[in-house]
Amino acid sequence: MAKIDFLPDNKIYESEPGETILQTASRNGIPHVAACGGEGKCTTCRLLILDGIDNCSPETDAEVSLKAKAHTTEEFRLACQTTVNGDIVVRRLVLNKEDIESVSEKGVSGRLGETKKIAILFSDIRGFTPFSEKLTPYDVVFILNRYFNRMVRVVEDNRGTVDNYIGDGMVAIFGLHDEKDPAHHAVKSALEMCSEMDDMKPYLKTMYGQDFDIGVGIHWGEAVVGDIGAGKSKRLTAIGDAMNFASRVESANKQFQSRVLISEETHEEIKDSLVIKDFMRTNLPGIDGRVTLYEIEDINYSTDDEREKEHIEDNITWSKCSEVETFQEEDQQVFKIKREDILVVKIEESFFALNDKCPHAYLSLQGSDIDIKNESIACRWHKSSFCYKTGEVKEWMKISNFQKMLGKIGLNAEAQEIAQMEKIPVDVYKTKIEDGFVWVGLEKD
Ligand code: FES
Repeated sequence: MAKIDFLPDNKIYESEPGETILQTASRNGIPHVAACGGEGKCTTCRLLILDGIDNCSPETDAEVSLKAKAHTTEEFRLACQTTVNGDIVVRRLVLNKEDIESVSEKGVSGRLGETKKIAILFSDIRGFTPFSEKLTPYDVVFILNRYFNRMVRVVEDNRGTVDNYIGDGMVAIFGLHDEKDPAHHAVKSALEMCSEMDDMKPYLKTMYGQDFDIGVGIHWGEAVVGDIGAGKSKRLTAIGDAMNFASRVESANKQFQSRVLISEETHEEIKDSLVIKDFMRTNLPGIDGRVTLYEIEDINYSTDDEREKEHIEDNITWSKCSEVETFQEEDQQVFKIKREDILVVKIEESFFALNDKCPHAYLSLQGSDIDIKNESIACRWHKSSFCYKTGEVKEWMKISNFQKMLGKIGLNAEAQEIAQMEKIPVDVYKTKIEDGFVWVGLEKD
């Protein structure tokens, strides 16, 4: 059997037939760096053959291309790619205290580094930086935490991993832990993040008098995934050009006044399920050549769990909400269905479903007063009331009779303004009870 003399350890071990030098080293407890896990994707396991180079196997294709990048000479071989058919003497090159630590350290995920395809999502709040400069740091932290609470929940519900926060920006990765359908989930998250932002808008407008919007960019590409960092902050993350590209895609939203843009690679991967609003050819800073970006309107994709909770009947998509008996405790519950917040209300023994956003200022209708005699639901914010069966407006913001009278003779600005506003009915939906659950039906478009 061929013998390998390992220097500087001065230890000689026999190599099993077909075994690489790296395998012989690890079988015999010789610490040897191999950042890619011995798959011929890095050069950290390189060693110098001091004697017996002719007893080494020919270089593999991976070795040839990696050695070209690493500027090495013939005597250098990659331990993970080389087998031996006669005695050799080798010197390990990368070997110091840090290397030994990195060999013995397991890392947070146990993954030292691999190239894989992932979907990368960058998001950013438009105009937040100049606005935040006028606020106290407490307000900034308060708004951002409120915002991130919602956005992180969306990402995690869609099997993504939040990788980083950069001020008001967020980076999320889909497929980092080999989750299913990463590109689909990334685009679905982006659209849901926009709905969350829409939900927050009335609150931010009321509190700070400012409208905000977000921009989201997604790229599907290859990146190096591995444990990066040290100590407690070491974490599984991704690096590479694909990350940079995703950030450029997000920035292009400003130029195109769009909310969700995806790269051509993302489009190619999942185009059958996408509803495209527009596309554009453009240059991105730091990227060679023109690229095509797609603006996303919608995605026809639901997870297995979601599919289990819905069925289609006569052009109506029925979505399962919660068990009938849960309404004993909570008679007004909100469900997210097709990115809409839908309020289901139990009134006597019947269930009614309405869009949760009051058409006046898009504040939540949950917690409204119900008037069974008038068949109406009155928004608790400014007391607009609607028929809970048909959605028609019964009263558009409540003002006193005295104000109404003044308004008629042109003396009350508030009453006049209300009279001139368009009165918008609230959307109502069908409901049914099946298998002990309340279901809400939305017409298919
Ligand atoms: S939000 Fe103003 S009446 Fe409902």
